[in-house]
Amino acid sequence: MVDSDTAPLYAQPDRNLAMELVRATEAAAIRAVPFIGRGDKNGADKAAVDAMRKFLGTVDFDGVVVIGEGEKDQAPMLFNGEHVGTGNGPSCDIAVDPIDGTSLAAAGRQNALSMIAVADRGSMLDASMVFYMDKLVSGPEGIGVVDIRKPIGENIRALAKAKGKPVEQMQIAVLDRPRHMQLIQDIRAAGAGTRLLLDGDVAGGINAARPETRIDMCVGTGGSPEGVATACAIKALGGFIQGRLAPKTDEERQRGIDAGLKMDHVYEAGDLVRSENTFFVATGVTDGGLVEGVRRLGDIIRTESIVLRSRSGTVRRVIAEHLAERWL
Ligand code: FBP
Repeated sequence: MVDSDTAPLYAQPDRNLAMELVRATEAAAIRAVPFIGRGDKNGADKAAVDAMRKFLGTVDFDGVVVIGEGEKDQAPMLFNGEHVGTGNGPSCDIAVDPIDGTSLAAAGRQNALSMIAVADRGSMLDASMVFYMDKLVSGPEGIGVVDIRKPIGENIRALAKAKGKPVEQMQIAVLDRPRHMQLIQDIRAAGAGTRLLLDGDVAGGINAARPETRIDMCVGTGGSPEGVATACAIKALGGFIQGRLAPKTDEERQRGIDAGLKMDHVYEAGDLVRSENTFFVATGVTDGGLVEGVRRLGDIIRTESIVLRSRSGTVRRVIAEHLAERWL
């Protein structure tokens, strides 16, 4: 692990990197557009992966993909261990999800986005041996207040108190999956409302940590890679995240243990990503609560991205207008 306080400056991902990375998520989002609503998940993913890989190849950094995506459903992917970037500049771990919500994009639904998270080399938890993770994400008010080990009702009441709002006004995001039936019932029984996500718990988690959204907390089981990527964003937002690996079978559990992962262990933000120097960029593919999707306006293609950097705590929204003729 690189100690970001003592490593020479040139070796650390610096502020310029964020703006370079956003070009890669913009490219992935733009290239996915012809596949929106066409029912072709893998086509959308491949177009986004190819564009992201190409653009990352021009960025001055030495990135190793710690978290690629796609293994879960044999989708095209940027492989774990793959080197990206020019090889010059800071050594980084990189988590990519060229489209988080490929099914959403393929169906023409909202909330698909393209994302990249970066942190100092050796600092991201490689949780790839276990696909699923239980997660709890909230804004800064949740720090020292909520805990994934506690019943959801207790967490909702504690967070409502910390936020100074009635429980009835609390909105909890959770993936709409049969495995969450009991969790959904418990949230409602506690008096809060659910925001059921068809897909995309990275955006769900970030929304839970942003003050301007209606979501107060994002809970439930989603992808482990998405959990680590979300942690990079949450560190930049000063929010709260915990994750606990959720293997589906004994074999998966053992594979995780063999890879050095801890089962039944609560990973805090600092365990998911040990670096305090994290970057997170995401560009909307389809319209969503976090960012708008790609839009064609005559000769222009318009993209909206969010760029987060933990060291400075900045949250930027980047609206870019691209000449459509360059993307033919
Ligand atoms: P991809 O589109 O990148 O495959 O992921 C979508 C997603 O909804 C994630 O946001 C979430 O963490 C995971 O899938 C949940 O997995 P599952 O669909 O198997 O419940």
